Amino acid sequence: MAKLSLLLGILIFFTPSLCCPEEQKQSLLQFKASVAKATSSSSSETLLFGLESWNASSDCCNWDRVLCSSRLESRTVVALYLDSLFAMQSLEPVVVTSIILTPLFLIRSLMLLDLSSNHIQGELPGNGFANLSKLVYLDMMQNDFSGSIPSQLFHLRYLQYLDMSSNSFHGILSGEVVSLQNLRVLKLDGNFIGGNIPKEIGNITKLHQLSLRGNIFSGGIPSSILYLYELEELDLRDNLLSKEIPISLGDLSNMTSLALSNNKLIGRIPSSIQKLAKLETLRLENNLLTGEIPSWLFNIRSLKNLFLGANNLIWNSSTRIVPKCMLSQLSLKSCGLAGEIPDWISSQKTMEFLDLSENEIEGVLPQWLAEMEVGSIILSDNSLTGSLPPRFFDSLDLSVLSLSRNNFSGELPDNVGNATNLMILMLAGNNFSGKVPESISQIYRLLLLDLSRNRFSGDTFPDLNSNILLGYIDFSSNEFSGDIPTKFSQETRILALGRNKFSGSLPRNLTYLSQLEHLDIHDNNITGELPEFISQISSLQILNLRNNSLKGPLPESISNLSNLQILDLSSNYLVGEIPAKYGNLLGMIQTPNTFSSVSGLFTFSIEFNDLIVNWKKSKQGLSSHRLQLYSLLDLSMNQLFGEIPASLGTLKGLKILNISHNNLAGKIPLSFGDLESLESLDLSHNKLSGSIPRSLAKLQELTVLDVSNNKLAGKIPVGGQMDTMNDPNSYANNSGLCGMQIHVPCAEEPSPAGPPDTEDKETWFRWEGAGIGYSAGFFVTVGILYFTGKFIPALPPNLHRQQRRRRV
Ligand SMILES: *[C@@H]1O[C@H](CO)[C@@H](O)[C@H](O)[C@H]1NC(C)=O
Ligand SMILES: *[C@@H]1O[C@H](CO)[C@@H](O)[C@H](O)[C@H]1NC(C)=O
Ligand SMILES: *[C@@H]1O[C@H](CO)[C@@H](O)[C@H](O)[C@H]1NC(C)=O
Ligand SMILES: *[C@@H]1O[C@H](CO)[C@@H](O)[C@H](O)[C@H]1NC(C)=O
Ligand SMILES: *[C@@H]1O[C@H](CO)[C@@H](O)[C@H](O)[C@H]1NC(C)=O
Ligand SMILES: *[C@@H]1O[C@H](CO)[C@@H](O)[C@H](O)[C@H]1NC(C)=O
Ligand SMILES: *[C@@H]1O[C@H](CO)[C@@H](O)[C@H](O)[C@H]1NC(C)=O
Ligand SMILES: *[C@@H]1O[C@H](CO)[C@@H](O)[C@H](O)[C@H]1NC(C)=O
Ligand SMILES: *[C@@H]1O[C@H](CO)[C@@H](O)[C@H](O)[C@H]1NC(C)=O
Ligand SMILES: *[C@@H]1O[C@H](CO)[C@@H](O)[C@H](O)[C@H]1NC(C)=O
Ligand SMILES: *[C@@H]1O[C@H](CO)[C@@H](O)[C@H](O)[C@H]1NC(C)=O
Ligand SMILES: *[C@@H]1O[C@H](CO)[C@@H](O)[C@H](O)[C@H]1NC(C)=O
Repeated sequence: MAKLSLLLGILIFFTPSLCCPEEQKQSLLQFKASVAKATSSSSSETLLFGLESWNASSDCCNWDRVLCSSRLESRTVVALYLDSLFAMQSLEPVVVTSIILTPLFLIRSLMLLDLSSNHIQGELPGNGFANLSKLVYLDMMQNDFSGSIPSQLFHLRYLQYLDMSSNSFHGILSGEVVSLQNLRVLKLDGNFIGGNIPKEIGNITKLHQLSLRGNIFSGGIPSSILYLYELEELDLRDNLLSKEIPISLGDLSNMTSLALSNNKLIGRIPSSIQKLAKLETLRLENNLLTGEIPSWLFNIRSLKNLFLGANNLIWNSSTRIVPKCMLSQLSLKSCGLAGEIPDWISSQKTMEFLDLSENEIEGVLPQWLAEMEVGSIILSDNSLTGSLPPRFFDSLDLSVLSLSRNNFSGELPDNVGNATNLMILMLAGNNFSGKVPESISQIYRLLLLDLSRNRFSGDTFPDLNSNILLGYIDFSSNEFSGDIPTKFSQETRILALGRNKFSGSLPRNLTYLSQLEHLDIHDNNITGELPEFISQISSLQILNLRNNSLKGPLPESISNLSNLQILDLSSNYLVGEIPAKYGNLLGMIQTPNTFSSVSGLFTFSIEFNDLIVNWKKSKQGLSSHRLQLYSLLDLSMNQLFGEIPASLGTLKGLKILNISHNNLAGKIPLSFGDLESLESLDLSHNKLSGSIPRSLAKLQELTVLDVSNNKLAGKIPVGGQMDTMNDPNSYANNSGLCGMQIHVPCAEEPSPAGPPDTEDKETWFRWEGAGIGYSAGFFVTVGILYFTGKFIPALPPNLHRQQRRRRV
């Protein structure tokens, strides 16, 4: 909104008349040409979105995205709205570099330049801004600009609005060469140095709004920021900033919004902040701040949004809070709150977002909280008890309710469906029981429903077909029974039904769920054969049917599931041979990176909370809980026979291969030496004969090998990781294995002189055959909620811009 008023201020003298100067027109045409050239590989029609009207025969003051001043003597271009130029593009990313901007740097009369949301790459030209000395408004948000901020920018003495957020700008780097592509990942690495915010930022003294959010600046916040007397909004979120918050920030008396979240700031919340009498928003969450949460915060009358969560702050429960502010958003996540939900919150009648998760709050949900009709309530990871007051759901404001991992009990109120604007309902890890109320099908906006790890029961399900947006469904670890339900929206991506008492055969209607990526029905009693139709759900990435009562052969057609990265069919009664075509499972051939659409839908980060790995004592296995890094094929504990198809050796992406506890015979394929990503190979409890192929020494990632209880003979190969595979249990009960790993000299070899050196080796993995595969009860962290406050899908940037333009 502040943007808008600023614009109106600049453009008040706008009336259409005279022509724009020829040289400015030429610059703009040049810009169009260079954009067209840069994007010529794709269909240029859509790419030059909004530049269609730019042609040599018309007045540039009449073009879209261009605004001219109206001074009669000199009609000049004053504003260029060049945001989202490629908004209509296809999925294919357009690569444009900062060179395309060159012609724009000749337009000296520019006061407003909006280049946001174009994903322009490369550094800003060093002297580019020298000519643009009249700039008042500069928006470069959401590009891929890198390098440091060119110093010319600090000479823009009229600049009031500067947004450089969501780029890869950094300070002046010394020494260390860094790969910028990887920086987002390296962000959490404490040792990374991104360079300081230049102290010259303090020279742009007219600034009202400054955003450097989402770049890679490190070091302290420069004290020169003190000179930005007129600053109203400062956003430095999502950088690597460290050191203490400068006390001098408290002198910027016009500050309304101070956002420093997601950095590594230390020290206390400076008491100078209480001098900011116009402060409405204070975002300090996810830093390393310490000390007591000062009670004076609640005396800042103008304060509306307060985010303090995820620091090392302490809440002193003996402090009596009598708030003078009227908060809309409050996050005290992980602030050590104990006792009941603080009742001063009841005075905050305008509350829309409340996050008190990860504290030690006890007691029941108070009725007054239900009556406040808060939009987002996040109370997960506390020790709350009692049942859910029905009043919560008689609210059309409720959009997010997360109560996971508390000690709630009782049934879900029948009026759940009254909360028709609910988008996210997370009740995992409590003691809820009873049926899921029918009325839940009225919540047509529901995106995510997590009821896992409770005691819900019933053999009939509400029809969730009408919840047309519902993409995430987790009912795992409850006491549901009856047939596998299929009445879900076509949008369903994740369906987790594991650890219940479902029975019957796999229903054909599952194939209607054409977007399904993750189907998990492990630990139930599914009977019948594994049907061919499963292969019609071509979007499947994870299929987990472990520990059911499936019988019959493995359908060959499963090899058609080209996205499949995890297939777990262990602990069933499957018979027959392993189809050679499984060597075609494309998702297990490519090195897995990340699961595709799931995270695209929402900005949630998905974690699978109990990945019970196959090798409980392996350090390697436990260090990585991120399921998307895994590609796994587990056919163990069945009654498979025949030989192992050599084609499985093509599954180069596989990290875990388990075909143990079957009746497989023949030799271990030589091709297993090609499974270059393999970390764990379990072939135990079969009838395999011959020797262990030497090619296994090529497996550089291998940390667990079990070939015990077979009919193998001969020398255990040496070299590479094989030298560390020295647990005798992994080779037990065979027909004459020998080798240094088990201290059994091979007949043709002289016995080693002196004591074997293997004793000294540190790596000593013990095989425990107990846990099989993984258990994918998943939970979704509501990260986005903490950033957006109220959970509302953002307007497409375009729309927002267009509205603004219309009003201008
Ligand atoms: C140039 O654009 C104007 C509208 O801005 C249009 O009327 C005219 O036909 C265009 N001329 C050419 C040669 O495309
Ligand atoms: C600034 O403008 C002058 C002419 O007006 C031009 O020669 C010069 O190249 C421009 N500087 C940049 C960096 O574009
Ligand atoms: C910033 O301002 C100081 C003092 O006004 C001046 O000495 C310095 O040259 C300026 N630096 C830049 C980069 O504008
Ligand atoms: C603060 O804002 C007020 C009103 O917008 C304005 O009059 C005043 O000059 C500003 N103060 C500073 C230091 O810019
Ligand atoms: C909590 O605050 C009270 C006074 O408000 C103070 O006496 C007490 O020491 C504080 N407790 C802790 C643990 O800091
Ligand atoms: C949950 O509440 C029950 C009593 O209702 C209590 O026995 C149990 O210890 C509590 N569990 C936890 C984890 O607080
Ligand atoms: C809420 O649900 C209950 C029971 O389902 C129903 O009787 C009541 O009319 C509903 N209230 C509103 C406001 O829709
Ligand atoms: C769950 O609730 C039942 C009563 O409904 C109680 O007997 C049981 O102890 C509770 N379990 C836990 C873990 O709190
Ligand atoms: C299967 O889907 C069809 C068509 O949507 C529907 O008519 C039928 O009732 C469904 N069957 C079950 C058991 O859900
Ligand atoms: C298999 O599932 C049943 C329930 O269907 C469960 O009781 C049992 O513990 C599971 N077995 C394993 C090994 O997880
Ligand atoms: C699974 O279902 C079959 C047939 O309905 C039954 O015979 C068997 O006992 C069940 N197994 C378990 C573990 O409940
Ligand atoms: C799926 O696999 C089967 C057997 O491998 C094959 O006959 C069939 O043509 C495949 N179907 C598709 C759609 O690729």
